[in-house]
Amino acid sequence: MREGDRSMPPPRRLTRGIAAGIPYHSRLRGSRRGHAADAMQIALAPMEGLVDDVLRTLLTEIGGIDWCVAEFIRINQHLLPAASFYKLAPELKAGSKTPSGTPMRIQLLGSDPQCIADNAALACTLGAPVIDLNFGCPAKTVNQSRGGAVLLKEPELLHDIVRTVRRTIPPQIPVTAKMRLGFENTDNALVCAQALADGGAASLVVHARTKTDGYQPPAYWEWIARIDDVVDVPVYANGEIWSVDDWRRCRAISGVDDVMLGRGVIARPDLARQIAAVRDGRDIAPMGWAEVLPMVRRYWTMQCDKPLSAKYAPGMLKQWLVWVGRSYGQAQRLFVDVRTLTDCDGITRRLAAEPEPAPDAIAS
Ligand SMILES: Cc1cc2nc3c(=O)[nH]c(=O)nc-3n(C[C@H](O)[C@H](O)[C@H](O)COP(=O)(O)O)c2cc1C
Repeated sequence: MREGDRSMPPPRRLTRGIAAGIPYHSRLRGSRRGHAADAMQIALAPMEGLVDDVLRTLLTEIGGIDWCVAEFIRINQHLLPAASFYKLAPELKAGSKTPSGTPMRIQLLGSDPQCIADNAALACTLGAPVIDLNFGCPAKTVNQSRGGAVLLKEPELLHDIVRTVRRTIPPQIPVTAKMRLGFENTDNALVCAQALADGGAASLVVHARTKTDGYQPPAYWEWIARIDDVVDVPVYANGEIWSVDDWRRCRAISGVDDVMLGRGVIARPDLARQIAAVRDGRDIAPMGWAEVLPMVRRYWTMQCDKPLSAKYAPGMLKQWLVWVGRSYGQAQRLFVDVRTLTDCDGITRRLAAEPEPAPDAIAS
């Protein structure tokens, strides 16, 4: 199927979603499929190399995020040592919650059903409250070793992986899955979603693009509606939500309540709080630079406290500043100043020298 053909799914039923014309805060109560009354969920996406425990701490403090997921943990042939889990998900040592109390899930990536299941069982003993399985990673090295999005070519294997994990780990711990629409095309999208749900996935996050689409806009939110029609578990919409307006459109097109935010919330740290406010019928001012700058400084301090910080912290800060610079001109300028600095002390001095913004300073 060609790229453009994807926009062909049938129109969304008009009895739910924005088309129904019901205010957000009332429409969300008593959601479908047995969700609890206040169930519309906003999740923070797992993002390898970007959303580490530091960013999870800061973003979940702001409010609006119901749960988050650690970066994927790659499973090959062996049972990993506990240290591998703690390294990527130190929150496991604190009840699998960020310091603000937001639950964190563990995500595993691999293709050997029993090996993934054994590692999932270990993660459960370490305190993982939910095991999420990655069927969306587009990285060549990952796909070449039969992990991530390439498995969307093998729906039976998807089913087998989820079922094996489901049968292996304690019944009270949910197994969930995150998928793209396919590898090169969307031909298997519905079959894959059904395979995951039938295998025992308690919910699905659908990143509404194929592997071939990478991260290029658009996201094909209409496919989320199609998937939601064929599975009986909650479906989370994911992909290309950068603003409250994007969220509104995604919701109208996909018809699903639950959402996972990725790059949008990295670039605009209060995006989840803004969406939650609209959902709840509250007014809230967008976060200004006066709130973001202290967060950037804390981010830096926390990165400097991590092991091997001299090697990694400068790159991590620069990476996040580039994202924040999409929303705040001040962050762009800061990035230009720190771009060539490689020593932590120099960066610390530059951050300290940043003028204190007026309390009501907005993005400029
Ligand atoms: C740098 C980066 C790292 C990512 N790492 C993961 C990951 O570890 N696990 C995963 O399921 N998805 C990962 N993703 C995909 C995101 O979770 C999300 O599905 C994708 O970015 C689309 O959402 P967005 O358009 O809101 O960013 C990653 C994306 C990016 C850009």
